[in-house]
Amino acid sequence: MTRKWWQDAIIYQIYLRSFKDSNNDGIGDFRGLISKLDYLSDLGVTAIWVSPHYESPMDDNGYDISNFFKVSEDYGTIEDVKDFIRIAHSKNMKVIFDLVLNHTSDEHEWFQAAKDPVHLDHHKYHDYYIWQKPKYDKNGERQMPTQWRSWFGGPVWEYNPPTDEYYLHIFSKKMPDLNWHNQDMKRDMKNVAKWWINLGVDGFRVDASNHLEKNWDFPEGHPGYENFSGLPEHHKYLEEFGIEVFGPHDVMAMGEAGGATKEEALAYCGFESNEFDMLIHFGHCWADYDGENHLTPGKWSKGKININHIKNSFNRWFRMLNGDGWNLIYWHNHDHPRIISHYGNDLVYHTESGKMLAYSLYMMPGTPIIYQGEEIGMTNVDYKELNDFRDVEVYTEYENFLSFGATHEIAMQALRDRSRDNARSPFQWDDSLYAGFSDINPWMNINGNSTFINLKKQQADINSIFSTYKQLIRLRKEEKLNDGILHFIDIENENTFTYINETVNAKFLVLANFKSKKIKVNLDINIAGYQNIMYNYIKRELSNELKLLPYEALIYKYKK
Ligand code: NOJ
Repeated sequence: MTRKWWQDAIIYQIYLRSFKDSNNDGIGDFRGLISKLDYLSDLGVTAIWVSPHYESPMDDNGYDISNFFKVSEDYGTIEDVKDFIRIAHSKNMKVIFDLVLNHTSDEHEWFQAAKDPVHLDHHKYHDYYIWQKPKYDKNGERQMPTQWRSWFGGPVWEYNPPTDEYYLHIFSKKMPDLNWHNQDMKRDMKNVAKWWINLGVDGFRVDASNHLEKNWDFPEGHPGYENFSGLPEHHKYLEEFGIEVFGPHDVMAMGEAGGATKEEALAYCGFESNEFDMLIHFGHCWADYDGENHLTPGKWSKGKININHIKNSFNRWFRMLNGDGWNLIYWHNHDHPRIISHYGNDLVYHTESGKMLAYSLYMMPGTPIIYQGEEIGMTNVDYKELNDFRDVEVYTEYENFLSFGATHEIAMQALRDRSRDNARSPFQWDDSLYAGFSDINPWMNINGNSTFINLKKQQADINSIFSTYKQLIRLRKEEKLNDGILHFIDIENENTFTYINETVNAKFLVLANFKSKKIKVNLDINIAGYQNIMYNYIKRELSNELKLLPYEALIYKYKK
């Protein structure tokens, strides 16, 4: 395969709403993003993934799209988008947009027609969505077709009186799922993607890509995820889309999917695959569940971090794709807590753990995605009130926690630890009242720690987390780390995180301590010739037995 731009890329994910507000309405926008392109270029970023910017009632911050061809007024105009693409390109940065294929907003004109039997286009659009007739119990009470649960916590069915049917929504009830059996809908969706490609977009991140197919027998199930997630047929739709849209236009596509076998991983993003070029996978994202927590269960339960779990996921994906496909690495996105609060220590060891997390990920092979604010160690939110939160998911889940017996305080702590809003608070540019994000109180509160965790401060400090990110990005490019071979040398060890990334010219050894106590590292390798090139405490010579301080991390280079 000829070398593609995305194999050398450093991708940066922008959550537009919270990146930079240019017109002081409290909401981030394209003009704000444009004003920060020099910042991104200086950081070393070569591609920018922008979260959905399309017209939307913003029930799910833009993943609920009401018009695929229009830019949300919150974010600017089509001229702003064109300028953004042009200016990003002039600074040698590629542009990746989010492409949402699984659902629309209920305010999209397709759904407006679909739900209304007297609408002129009803017959054309009804089948664009997924409908089922009610069931009735022995008392004649109307029941949902199944007990399946949505990813946001409530039922997947919503009743539509005018047609006496339920429609399926695996996310919020304002996000009806599209019917991928319908050929006209598929054609319309392909045209959406082509339209943006014509505008100059270089790639897409395909949202919810493993959910496109459903089990049309609608068997009973609770939560029933297996009926709308990872069903084999979704590969067919993606492949068809790739062959007709991504391939011929040579645009990059990255999908998202949970656990996959090697066969499936290669189907998604093997070099021979027509579906995607890369895959966002989640194996390392929730390595600290507490299975015993029944008050705030599942992803909401914060337990002890399982370092093996994290290592195994990175290792597994590297091995599955090695030589047959291209790997993608990232710590977290807009759906997860902030990495420094999640796997690091955002108080006592803020700087140390921020750097440790950077070393432990960004020395690995693959194409990295940095999430906005990660480079300055932005932390989880410090919100005190339920209505400080903005995410639609928070409100259903909060009610669920109370119904499971959690107190208000326990539920609030789960939200502060685990909710998606943690990653979505506005970027902390400086220590001013609204953190340099806006001149007014933004759509979502600024984190109180912006007075001391902000870019301006870290830019002035060569020992900051930000400076470390810059150095690592430079090193990645110079040493072609994206192309290396990954070997974990302690895969069974429960305490240590130690690997080598071997490139053509060198071997890079990374040692990291994910704990707030000292740990011992025994290295069963020939240590001769390894030089310590980066450290988050002090420079240290390598030895076969080392004690690492809390969150200590070291990078050694062996020149071949
Ligand atoms: C995945 C996105 O990352 C998430 O933010 C969104 O809520 C769902 N897909 C639905 O579009």
